[in-house]
Order: sequence, then C-alpha cells, then structure tokens
Amino acid sequence: MQIYIFDSYEDLSTAAAAATADTLNLKPDSVLGLATGSTPLGLYRELIRMHREEGLDFSRVTTFNLDEYVGLPKTHPQSYHFFMNRNFFRHINILPQNTYVPAGTTNNHKAFCDWYENRIKESGGIDIQILGIGTDGHIAFNEPTSSLGSRTRIKTLSKQTRDDNSRFFEKPGDVPVYAITMGVGTILEARRIFLIATGAAKAVAVAGAIEGPVSSMNTGSALQLHQDVVVFLDNEAAGKLKLIDYYHWIQENEPDAPEVLRKQP
Ligand code: F6R
Repeated sequence: MQIYIFDSYEDLSTAAAAATADTLNLKPDSVLGLATGSTPLGLYRELIRMHREEGLDFSRVTTFNLDEYVGLPKTHPQSYHFFMNRNFFRHINILPQNTYVPAGTTNNHKAFCDWYENRIKESGGIDIQILGIGTDGHIAFNEPTSSLGSRTRIKTLSKQTRDDNSRFFEKPGDVPVYAITMGVGTILEARRIFLIATGAAKAVAVAGAIEGPVSSMNTGSALQLHQDVVVFLDNEAAGKLKLIDYYHWIQENEPDAPEVLRKQP
C-alpha cells in the first residue's frame, strides 16, 4: 500500500483528483468505480473544477458505483443515484448511459447483481476504484463478517452504519436496512484502488485496514491483498497508525512518488 497523509481534507481531495485525472488523461476511456458518502465530495468537486477549467474529459469514461440502498427510487434525495447526479454527473460531460449505479428498486436482486458484475467485466474492468471506509471498517457496504471473496449482492446494514448514516435522513427509522453492494472480491479486481478517509472518527477503522490482520471483521483490511492501493488520509484519520513516522518518511523522500503526493518539506 502507498500511504499519503495530508494536512487538510482539501489537500487530500486535490491529490486524489490529480491522481485520477492522470489516469483519465492517459486512458480517456477509463472505467471508474465510484463511492458516495461525505468523503469523496471534495474529490468530485476538484474533478468538476478540472473539467470546467482544464478541459478534463469524461466523454468516453464509464462509471460503476459501489452501492445503493434497497427500496429507494432514483428520485429519492438520499438515494445514491440522486447523490451522484447532484454531486458529480450533471456537472461533467459524462454520457448518462455510461454511468451505472445499482438498482435499489429491482424485484430480482440476484439477477440484477449478476448483470451488474457482467457489465463491469464487459466494460473491461475497473481501472480506478474510489473507496471511503465506514467506522466499522466496511468498504462499499461490506459490513463486518462479509466474505472477503464476496460479489455484488444484497447486504444487511449494521446498526453502526445505520446510525452513522442517519445524519442524512429525517429520522433514524428512515435509514434503509438493506443495500445492494459490490463485494470485496469485486472490488479487489479493480486494477488500482484509492482509499480515502478523513476525520478522527475513521482512525480506528483506517488503522485496522492498513495495519490490522486481514479479517472480515474489517473488510477494508482485504485491501492488503491488492497490489496497487493508494491511501489518502488527513492527519486525523491517520491518527491511530503505528508506523506513521515511516509513512511520513516515505512520503517526503520517495523519489518515485508523483509530485502531487509528496509532502512539502
Ligand atoms: C458509499 C460507500 C461507503 C462509504 C462509507 C463512508 O458508497 O460505499 O462504504 O464510503 O460508509 O461514508 P462517509 O464517506 O459518509 O463517511
């Protein structure tokens, strides 16, 4: 894993966006795996800015979102369809038919999930998968004890996740109980993975994912099995890392690190 620690959320978002744009510029028909939640908002804002001011082109890009709440129609303000349109898709020149978000209202979950997996494969596989992490260590909605080989499926959300996400809903009882989510196995097939985390509330989950044993109790820890993971943290999210001095040293001295990822001395 390459671990980069930044002084602010803005800095980590800018670095993650620059690294994403590098890939889009090299491969204009890239396939991106996208996350929702608060964490990637800064990254999306910066990519939108790069599109508007620097001509970053999404016209040949395809995207697959990690997950969607079961039962919420696309028009529901808390659905991930709605989130993606409001915060990203409608601000860039991506073709709507190239944006895939799991269908929360499908009647046949198994058939839909198999179709979604196939769509990812037929599109050539994901070039960069963007991930946040839950306070319980989940990536996508792979809650603790999810199989580390799991594929896209319906998953029951943990109480901790429902409590965490209740901030987006009118009342806690409105948070859906189920989600359709890419599996850990699906995520691990992406060619490159960017894990982004901000704030002290994520510090334990982040330490478990990076330095803990590989365990389904923190599905983020499965990323240790992937050969190309870049982790973007702020100081607070990095606060429980045991080898933090080592990561800082690498970030300051690593000659091959892209400029944007190198901490200014
Ligand atoms: C969202 C997703 C989740 C979030 C995680 C963190 O598509 O897959 O795993 O990344 O719950 O959420 P935030 O960023 O709101 O703290």
